[in-house]
Amino acid sequence: LRDDLLASIQAATGLDAVEAVRVHALGKQGAITGLLKTLGGMSPEERQEQGPRIHGLREAVTAALVERKAVLERLALDARLASETLDMTLPVEGVPPGSVHPVSQVMDELAEIFADLGFAVATGPEIEDDWHNFTALNIPESHPARAMHDTFYLAGEHEPKMVLRTHTSPVQIRTMMAQKPPIRIIAPGRVYRSDWDATHTPMFHQIEGLVIDKGITLGHLKWTLETLLKAFFERDDIVLRLRPSYFPFTEPSAEVDVGFTIQNGKRVLGGSDGWMELLGSGMVHRKVIEACNLDPDEWQGFAFGVGVDRLAMLKYGMDDLRPFFESDLRWARHYGFSA
Ligand code: PHE
Repeated sequence: LRDDLLASIQAATGLDAVEAVRVHALGKQGAITGLLKTLGGMSPEERQEQGPRIHGLREAVTAALVERKAVLERLALDARLASETLDMTLPVEGVPPGSVHPVSQVMDELAEIFADLGFAVATGPEIEDDWHNFTALNIPESHPARAMHDTFYLAGEHEPKMVLRTHTSPVQIRTMMAQKPPIRIIAPGRVYRSDWDATHTPMFHQIEGLVIDKGITLGHLKWTLETLLKAFFERDDIVLRLRPSYFPFTEPSAEVDVGFTIQNGKRVLGGSDGWMELLGSGMVHRKVIEACNLDPDEWQGFAFGVGVDRLAMLKYGMDDLRPFFESDLRWARHYGFSA
């Protein structure tokens, strides 16, 4: 029996055949199973002699089955590897490469320019509390500037009251509360106002700049912005004009305009035939410095906030802000932003 079984295991050429031998030998009605059953009816002496033989037979057959199965599986795998080939020269279905969104690209460029000037990047939450967004920036409750901001308030009774930040200026507060001067940071990010037309979207992007140190003047502010904009627009003939303005959190405040010339009926940056409003800025108000537990007689500084989307529009000659957020690839391609 042993030789028969081992021979038919060796002869098996498929996994099915191996399984058939297993059932034939070890299944419920199998030959070895049958032999095992006879052990019960034997005398102790007989069992002592036959037991080890039958169990030995079962182990030998089981081992042979396992081994044969492994060999057959190896053979099957070898055959598959030999028959299946991969044609590396077949052309693939094209997956268009992604590209960086103009807003992200402008943010990256600005962060890089500012890094060269020694500015670190700071961040704050987009869901901001009333105190950081307004009060600490010298915009108390019932201040008319709150109405100017077209604020989105979060529904429900929150204490403190929460808003979608209307500007990146609250990051000024968070930074001054968190670290000791001297401070040189920019804070890029999304801001929100309830507004919608060709040049206003309810979500847009700003970069805030903040410098707090000793003896900082408007001159530092102007030099910083000039250096920044020359690098960003890659033109040396950028001219800036600081125009007196008002923000509750700066004193004095200045709106910064950038000069342009008209060439072939188009506005081109550089020169000063006309002016375009670009950003808000000023010297950080004493009250803001005080709100952050710093002594305004010791520390002064400047701040500015610039619309990133607007900078992108100027640099790439786009005239409508809304497509920035509509994910239309034709638009991205038109301005060279997508393959
Ligand atoms: N936070 C102002 C705005 O969004 C811009 C600004 C920032 C002005 C910093 C002055 C100083 O309009």
